[in-house]
Amino acid sequence: MFTAMQQGTAEDWGIIAREHMLHQRSVAPLQIMDSMRRLASMQLGFGADQLTHCLMTATLARADNATDEEVVAALTHDLGKIMSIPNHGAIQAEVLKQYVSDDIYFAVKWHQHFQGAYYYGYLGKPTDMREQFRGESWFDFAEKLVDKWDAPAFDPDFKVDSLESFEPEVMRVFSVPRRGF
Ligand SMILES: [Fe+2]
Repeated sequence: MFTAMQQGTAEDWGIIAREHMLHQRSVAPLQIMDSMRRLASMQLGFGADQLTHCLMTATLARADNATDEEVVAALTHDLGKIMSIPNHGAIQAEVLKQYVSDDIYFAVKWHQHFQGAYYYGYLGKPTDMREQFRGESWFDFAEKLVDKWDAPAFDPDFKVDSLESFEPEVMRVFSVPRRGF
């Protein structure tokens, strides 16, 4: 095994690539579940804390017969807020990128501009930011994600499915990368 990357061999990199893949497959779903719990302490001025909001978003997606990838996108769409609120959509989109369709990736990345229809006007910003994306293949899914599942999901009294109940979907989606590493 090398001590400086300049000395690396094909054998070294065979081992390293395999170990990275094993680590990613075994750890990624657990990291997602653990990270989701941190959202419970983020109220951010809403009636429902961010974990409840994400659980309600995913519960509505499930009730709408969403696919595993769509449910996981709904569940985690605001998870990036634990790192950066202004850039949370792009952060979570990149976390999901290896595991979901391009349409879901782009919908999560830009979901805040779709959501902006409901509040950007109160912040002095245009409310039609989603219109720049009309015609994109992912536009309809982004509207469904935001208008049907995300925007209505701020009810602290809604009976949400538990975080643990979403573990099977999270495990399935995060165990099978769509693209190579
Ligand atoms: Fe949201």
